Amino acid sequence: MSNHYGAIKLNKKQTAAWITLNRPNKLNAINAVMLQELSEALDTIEKDANTKCVIIVGEGEKAFSAGADLTELQKLTPETAAEFSAKGQQVFSKLEALSKPVVAAINGYALGGGLELALACDFRLASDNAELGCPEMKLGFIPGWGGTQRLPRIVGVAEAKRLIMLGDRVKADEAYKIGLVDKVVPQKELKAETVAVAQRLGECPPAALKYAKRAINSVTAVSFEDGLKKERDFFAMLFSSKETRDKIEAFGSQRNKKEGDC
Ligand code: COA
Repeated sequence: MSNHYGAIKLNKKQTAAWITLNRPNKLNAINAVMLQELSEALDTIEKDANTKCVIIVGEGEKAFSAGADLTELQKLTPETAAEFSAKGQQVFSKLEALSKPVVAAINGYALGGGLELALACDFRLASDNAELGCPEMKLGFIPGWGGTQRLPRIVGVAEAKRLIMLGDRVKADEAYKIGLVDKVVPQKELKAETVAVAQRLGECPPAALKYAKRAINSVTAVSFEDGLKKERDFFAMLFSSKETRDKIEAFGSQRNKKEGDC
C-alpha cells in the first residue's frame, strides 16, 4: 500500500490499514489537502482485498483532530461554503459506506469536523484525555460535514441538540455515558485496545461484516420495513457464500463429534 501522502499517513499492519491524520502542529486540523488524501486513501483501501479493517488516529498525543482548518473556513464565501460542505459530506459518506469496518481511535480532541469524521466510523474508542464537541455554534455556523445528521442518530436528538446548539464539550467519560464512544481506556492503552479490536474484526468473515455494516447503516436511510427487506436479501445472499456455509458446517460437525464422544 503506497504512502505518498503528506497530510495523512497510510500504513498497513497485518490486515489493518492505519490512517494517521498527520498535522500534529495544527492538532490535525482537516484542510482541503487532508480531505482529498483521505478520499484517495479510502479508494485504495476499498480495492485492497487483504485489508480487513481500517483504523483512523491522530498523530501526536493531543488530538484526534481539532476540526476543519479554521484558516480555510475564514476564506469561504456562500458559494464556496456549499462546495466545502459537499466535499466533506461526500468523503465522510464514502468512509461510512466503506465495505470494511472502520475504527476511530480518538486520542485527544475530536472537535467539529474531527468529531464528524469519527461519527462516520463504525467504532469509536477513546483515550481518557479525549474531549469531544461541536464548537461550530460558537463560531456562528453549524456542522457541515454530516454532523447534524449523524450525531442525533448516534446519541439521540436531545444530546445532539445539547452538543450542537449549546456547544457543550464532553470529556471521554461523559462521551461514553451518552453513547458517543464505545469504550474509554487510559491513553497509553489506546493503541493496544485498538489493535485488539482490529484483530477481532480481522477474524470475522469479510462478506458477513460487509453486509452487516450495510444493513445496519441502512436503518437510518430507509424505512424499517425496507431495512428488514435489505437484511433479508443480505442474509440470503450470504448463504450462497462458501465461507458462510463452511463455518456453519464446521459448527455442526463439531457438535456431532461432541455428541458422539459422550
Ligand atoms: N484549524 C486550524 N488550526 C488549528 C485548529 C483548527 N481547527 N485547531 C487548532 N489549530 C492550531 C492552532 O492555531 C495552533 O497553531 P499555531 O501554533 O500555529 O498557532 C495549534 O493548532 C495548536 O492549537 P492551540 O490553540 O495553541 O492549542 P490549545 O491546546 O491551546 O487549544 C483547542 C486546543 C482544541 C482547544 C483549540 O486549538 C481550539 O479551540 N481549536 C479550534 C477548535 C474548533 O473550533 N474547531 C472547529 C472547526 S469546525
